[in-house]
Amino acid sequence: MISFDNKQFVISTDKTSYVFELLNTGHLRHLYYGNKDDVSFIKPGWDIGDTIAYDDNKKLFLESELLEVSTCGKGDIKEPFIELINPDGSLTSDFLYKSHSVDKCEIKLHNLPSPHGECEHLCIELKDYHFEIYLYLHFYVYEKEDVICRNAVLVNREKEDIVLQKLMSLQLDFENDDMIFTCFRGSWANEMHKTSSIINQIKLVNSSNVGSSSSRANPFVMISSKDANEDNGDVYGFNLVYSGNHYEAVDTIIQNRSRFVSGINPDRFEFEIKNKESFESPIAVMTYSDKGFNGMSSNMHDFINRHIVRGKYQYNRRPILINTWEAFYFDIEERKLLELARKAKDLGIELFVLDDGWFGGRNDATSSLGDWTCDKNKIPGGLRKLNEDIDMNFGIWVEPEMVNTDSDLYRKHPEWCVEYDHHSEGRNQRYLDLSNDELVDYLIEIMSSVFEESGCTYVKWDLNRIMSDLYSKKNKRQMEFVHRYYLGFYRLCETLNKRFPDILFEGCSGGGNRFDLGILCYFPQIWASDNTDAEVRRRMLYSYSYGYPVSCIGSHVSACPNHQTGRTFPLGYRYEVAKFGCLGYELDLNKLSEEELNMVKEQIKDFKENRDVLMYGRFYRTDEKHFKVSDGNKEISFDYNLINE
Ligand code: DGJ
Repeated sequence: MISFDNKQFVISTDKTSYVFELLNTGHLRHLYYGNKDDVSFIKPGWDIGDTIAYDDNKKLFLESELLEVSTCGKGDIKEPFIELINPDGSLTSDFLYKSHSVDKCEIKLHNLPSPHGECEHLCIELKDYHFEIYLYLHFYVYEKEDVICRNAVLVNREKEDIVLQKLMSLQLDFENDDMIFTCFRGSWANEMHKTSSIINQIKLVNSSNVGSSSSRANPFVMISSKDANEDNGDVYGFNLVYSGNHYEAVDTIIQNRSRFVSGINPDRFEFEIKNKESFESPIAVMTYSDKGFNGMSSNMHDFINRHIVRGKYQYNRRPILINTWEAFYFDIEERKLLELARKAKDLGIELFVLDDGWFGGRNDATSSLGDWTCDKNKIPGGLRKLNEDIDMNFGIWVEPEMVNTDSDLYRKHPEWCVEYDHHSEGRNQRYLDLSNDELVDYLIEIMSSVFEESGCTYVKWDLNRIMSDLYSKKNKRQMEFVHRYYLGFYRLCETLNKRFPDILFEGCSGGGNRFDLGILCYFPQIWASDNTDAEVRRRMLYSYSYGYPVSCIGSHVSACPNHQTGRTFPLGYRYEVAKFGCLGYELDLNKLSEEELNMVKEQIKDFKENRDVLMYGRFYRTDEKHFKVSDGNKEISFDYNLINE
């Protein structure tokens, strides 16, 4: 519910309240965010000595105030929400209240993904003191999930251009009592290390500048009270519906007054906004629970399952799959594929996924990305015939955003490639320029023909390098490139989702290098890591579960010794970890003994019997090695002891 009384805005969800007030100056002072039954207002700011007084009455000191939106140049020296260059070249902004409106709606952004389903909506219109520049603050309320989403839209009604240098999606000012900032850091095959720091007077930043949301720093972060544990204590969770470079920072100037912001990373970002043009920031998601980390996670899981994931597979059973990657890598042969499929089908596996290596002349990672036609040397009858012969649901791997220089596509269209002199390669491949509409149109058609020709019901969409040597040959404003790339990417995904509503997409970026809510708006599940070692995956599952439901985590039983770590774990334990997620097998079943095959058969039977609870039950962590799911009737615990079998 949203109310406005006595100049106070109150946003209520089932269990939380978010309160701020309108000051006479037109600023919005933040008062409270927390438990609905425990509302107490934070005190106004004060003059701390050499602070700047905003008004002649010397009553408002923005440096020590808690605010809903902070600008540059008027005395608020903490992390700003917005930074821009005005038409006259000046850098000061002062956005003040003009009006507000409340309605019910489903969020609709112009070019970015957003949650679906009806919500209550508060829009506050702010205008710059000097210029005809307007800032619209949006609050979207999902009562049942205790989630509030925010974003902002900047509109230029000046005749001249302005340059936007930073526009966050969310700002939360709070009183800090040794609170803890937790983020999830990592690298390739080593995703999601939970990392916590006490919030003190050093600015803490979690951000990505690799051109995707990144395994280096997942955009999901938490702020919690120092005594919070899995079941008790104050925990705030934040995420961003965005897949490009992101930024989350906690800044403290005065000992116990802190500010959290999140949004597009302002580093190497700038957007020119002409007369009557606007810029919208991605949707940020925030939730609060006084029931510790499990309470906060439950809110996030419900919100993602109900309002982020969509389409046919939102609640539909995800198929148990067999994937060819760790079974054969690039060494694909029709005979081997059919043998594997036959074994898989006998065991009860429901979907056969043909991974990398099926197209162009691709025998290793040096060539053919971009040439999306079936390699008839490996699959003489073509994809449709293979699909029919396999006689199971059929899935296929693609990496549409990339090109190898050794490919027909690159030879024909070098202008579509993102590259610069003395280019630095990553996995021998380069980005295609998705900020170029013509290329996006081409990719829509070429991918459509692959999906149609193969008759696939599942697509694994990969992206195997981070960005470097950024240079768009088409769009000369290079500071806009990464954001424009994602606008193109989302159009590509949106169109393919609409054209192929029956296809289940799984996102992947060399594992978890693009594991975020933007992706989950199009792809209901994401491959969590290229590391399939069961113990590593157990740790990652624990970490991912803080911000993401297990129903969106791709999770496979693979061969031992494990291909990444060389370690061996019992088959029972490998299943015990993988079953908390979208289950798959990724190994050559022909290499398993009769006894092992029987075990796999039993595992598949077990998963089918318990799939709904495992994927959509309430997930609880006791500690890193113990967790369970429950749907109220049935409870399934993770059996860590199987590790020693
Ligand atoms: C990286 C993925 O994460 C792997 O599972 C596999 O699909 C390879 N790419 C294929 O190149």
